[in-house]
Amino acid sequence: IPVDPFDLVVFGGTGDLAQRKILPALFRRHCDEQLPDGARIIGAARSDLTRESYQALVAEALQTHCGAVAPEQLARFLDRVLYLRVDATDPAGWQALTQELGKPRQDRVRVFYFSVGPSLFAPLAEQIWAHELADDQTRIVVEKPFGHDLASARALNQTLASHFDESQIYRIDHYLGKETVQNLMAIRFGNMLFEPLWNSQYVDHIQITVAETVGVGGREAYYDKSGAMRDMMQNHLMQLLCLIAMEPPAKFDPDAVRDEKLKVIRALEPVEPHHIVRGQYVAPSGATGSDLTYRETVGAPRSTTESYVALKAHISNWRWAGTPFYLRTGKRLVARSSVINVFFKDAPHSIFGADAGRHANLLTIRLQPDEGITLKVTIKEPGPGGMRLMDVPLDMSFAQALGDNIHGAPDAYERLITDVIRGNQTLFMRGDEVEAAWAWTDPIIAGWTSRGDVPKPYDSGSTGPGDADLLMRRDQRDWRGIN
Ligand code: BG6
Repeated sequence: IPVDPFDLVVFGGTGDLAQRKILPALFRRHCDEQLPDGARIIGAARSDLTRESYQALVAEALQTHCGAVAPEQLARFLDRVLYLRVDATDPAGWQALTQELGKPRQDRVRVFYFSVGPSLFAPLAEQIWAHELADDQTRIVVEKPFGHDLASARALNQTLASHFDESQIYRIDHYLGKETVQNLMAIRFGNMLFEPLWNSQYVDHIQITVAETVGVGGREAYYDKSGAMRDMMQNHLMQLLCLIAMEPPAKFDPDAVRDEKLKVIRALEPVEPHHIVRGQYVAPSGATGSDLTYRETVGAPRSTTESYVALKAHISNWRWAGTPFYLRTGKRLVARSSVINVFFKDAPHSIFGADAGRHANLLTIRLQPDEGITLKVTIKEPGPGGMRLMDVPLDMSFAQALGDNIHGAPDAYERLITDVIRGNQTLFMRGDEVEAAWAWTDPIIAGWTSRGDVPKPYDSGSTGPGDADLLMRRDQRDWRGIN
């Protein structure tokens, strides 16, 4: 179903995100006939480009990021694409933009995509207002990082709030656009089977792993100021935690869902320093190649930024008191794997005696790659040898079960951008959610700074620092997911 007619202005239209994600996402929706006639995409940036040279840039980006591109589709898409030279801090280009867009109209959705550094949010918002380019139907999209800490996130929220209502602000966390992440809600709230067991009475603990094989090459300056805690834990892993731990919202609607997520974040206890492990990747001995050692990659021989973090979190509420959540994420690990493991408790009493061993159910939700669900169940070991037990997987790979439907699933940005145009904020972070996540993160980072904490080295291509395994072993548990 096509979305409503729209004008989408991409500030930072020549930047990396626009080229890699935003424009390819729009192009794929265009190829699926989801963009109506007359929908326009206006690249805006400081470079002095003509419309034609911008179109050539866009064509190149699509050819690089969208695989085989049909020439007639490309030509039709480029017809939608305009370019204007606009500088957030210089009124000159705004006249042309105002002329191009005209007054806001009720029959045309207007979106301003701030694909620029946060320091430009305030000047952009002010120019948009000064030129009367927005009405109460206008939407703005902002990317992460949304702040560097609680104070900066608050300041950004205040800046945006002075010109736009919260219902007009779409803060992107691209994990929420992933098909399998949305599936977490379907699995939990679409089935009767899991929800009655989804609490500390039945769940021993939960592990969330987001492991990457990529390093930080290409984004050194940003990453060395952020680290895994700010880059991944405060947002993507926090969102996964919320979706796994939240109470059922009354409806699948933006505020109902976000109210419940916020309650989870606010119920998180401060993390004890000995419940957190930071790591930084180093080259394994004898290894050669680029990006094998974090400090060399970022060109800072004494950097203490973490490329890995693992922690144990507790949610102080009725449902989860006593059930730990172990979260870890890192770069340059042995495999790319985002997975959630829900470990159920042992049966309260084994009728098969101590020899039968421990057999607890384990629900594994694989988010990427090889999306699917596995439930480990206990059965009788086949054969005449008495009542011996074994564990077998009830395994469902989405690729096998859904065939082409899963491959046709839109990329996160396709879903999120169409949601913006449709005016659906369910998969976007609300301002209070982001602030609450920073309020939990800030003391952890402040603790590292005040203690002069140095991350533990771990080999590129490994499962992370040994101390992360110790964190588990102290609790008589082991990580699952990448090892
Ligand atoms: C981004 C982080 O938000 O998410 C990157 O800034 C990270 O450091 C990326 O690599 C991971 O996203 P995905 O979709 O590849 O899991």
